[in-house]
Amino acid sequence: MMNKEDLSLRIRTRWMGRELYLLDEVDSTNTRAKAEAAKGAVEGLVVLSDCQTNGRGRRGRVWESPAGKNIYLTVLLKPEVDPETAPMLTLLAACGVARAVSAPGEKKPQIKWPNDLVMGGKKICGILTEMGIKEGKPSYVVVGIGINCNLTTFPEDIASKATSLKLEYGHEVSREEIAARFLNEFENLYEEFIKHKSLEFIQDEYERMLVNEGQKVCVLEPGREWTGVAAGITKMGELIVKKDSGEICKVSSGEVSVRGVYGYI
Ligand code: BTN
Repeated sequence: MMNKEDLSLRIRTRWMGRELYLLDEVDSTNTRAKAEAAKGAVEGLVVLSDCQTNGRGRRGRVWESPAGKNIYLTVLLKPEVDPETAPMLTLLAACGVARAVSAPGEKKPQIKWPNDLVMGGKKICGILTEMGIKEGKPSYVVVGIGINCNLTTFPEDIASKATSLKLEYGHEVSREEIAARFLNEFENLYEEFIKHKSLEFIQDEYERMLVNEGQKVCVLEPGREWTGVAAGITKMGELIVKKDSGEICKVSSGEVSVRGVYGYI
């Protein structure tokens, strides 16, 4: 289990995570945060669990969530934005995680657009953003992050593309420290984002970490696949892809995902 006192000492936010549930076990921190939202929970509520029995990934996938090793954390937000803007929070959270896991002298994280954190060519973190809509506006958005911290063995089907901070740094990490650093960073990023409703203020930082930059990518749209070369993101968080025909396209994260043509990246 994570140490609640250690965690509280490290959290220096004004409102995010000030209401925090630290659980031994839950089906999914996202599911729990959504249930709390339905009961009127405050913006900034954080649900953090030692393990998940039904951890969920994007596109209906399972998120492996063993106990004692990783971070499974969801933040409840109530942004006054259009539903189309909500996916941008995922990119924002990716930046927050990247800052949280960046340490002097350690391997640097990269981002696989829109929201996978990658180290040494393998995934260390996934983010699942879900929203509830009421009268055409988001009534809540939950941003759930799973960070592989001290896990060193993975199920066979993901072993070739998953890694952890311990494996990449070569030593154990404090989950309390990483989780708190994420909240400290994400609160600031979120407040800035809400002021501008744009990702322009982190565009350079994000692009510097973009593992797809200059890479050939395969864009998987519902019912259609096409290839091109990734060339950065827009201030709305779309991936800019130059098609083989020379045409420049903006790909938005809500609808599609990309993969490298030669493998995971
Ligand atoms: C992905 O890469 O597919 C997204 C994975 C997101 C996993 C996290 S763990 C905390 C939160 N609760 C969940 O059930 N999923 C997210």
